[in-house]
Amino acid sequence: MAIKNTDTSYGNIAKAFHWGMFLLLLGMVLLGSYMHELPADTPAQMGYKFGLYDYHKSFGILILVLVIFRLGWRMINPVPKMPDTMSKIENLSAHAMHMLLYVIMFAQPLFGWLMSSYAGRPVKFFGLELPALADKDKAMGDIFHEAHEIAALLLVVAFFIHVAAALFHHYVRKDDVMERMSLRPKKSE
Ligand code: HEM
Repeated sequence: MAIKNTDTSYGNIAKAFHWGMFLLLLGMVLLGSYMHELPADTPAQMGYKFGLYDYHKSFGILILVLVIFRLGWRMINPVPKMPDTMSKIENLSAHAMHMLLYVIMFAQPLFGWLMSSYAGRPVKFFGLELPALADKDKAMGDIFHEAHEIAALLLVVAFFIHVAAALFHHYVRKDDVMERMSLRPKKSE
């Protein structure tokens, strides 16, 4: 299997970004929703809850770094062409959906970082304290808290549309769009 993309298929690096980030994002949405609901009434509860926050923040920053490298890799690689059977409007909506996913993957960790900064809470990357992006400001913290929740919801909705589109290609159109991101090598390889 090729490291780089070709005009007809994704290479190993693009596939590793795709599936690795899928697992990370899934974990982040589940962890975020879980930890947010936890009580913080006793020191033990606070230790558990904010310990999870630290993991959530660290993996979130990792996603921010990964998405920058992923976009860079995408820019220096050919993007496999869509099948000729797709209309112009289908091509445009596929492209728009991919761009939306990139925007959310980039904006969501930044919203989290801004929310924590405005709330005056530390952001550590696996123990290494990162600078605050802004001075403490409760009203702004609330705005970015809201933005973080809305972006997570948008990510989930966009994810389901993305999966539905992949399944449509595979089962209805019967083209190779889904297969070319698959981790299983083609029978011919
Ligand atoms: C792509 C990366 C990320 C995803 C998918 C994500 C997702 C989520 C979700 C779904 C929640 C629960 C929202 C709610 O119900 O209120 C949440 C909460 C939270 N996130 Fe993230 N997050 C990401 C990155 C980050 C980063 C980078 C930070 C900080 C540096 C962060 C800080 C927080 C905090 C502090 C909460 C709890 C807010 C509260 O107290 O309710 N997140 N996140």
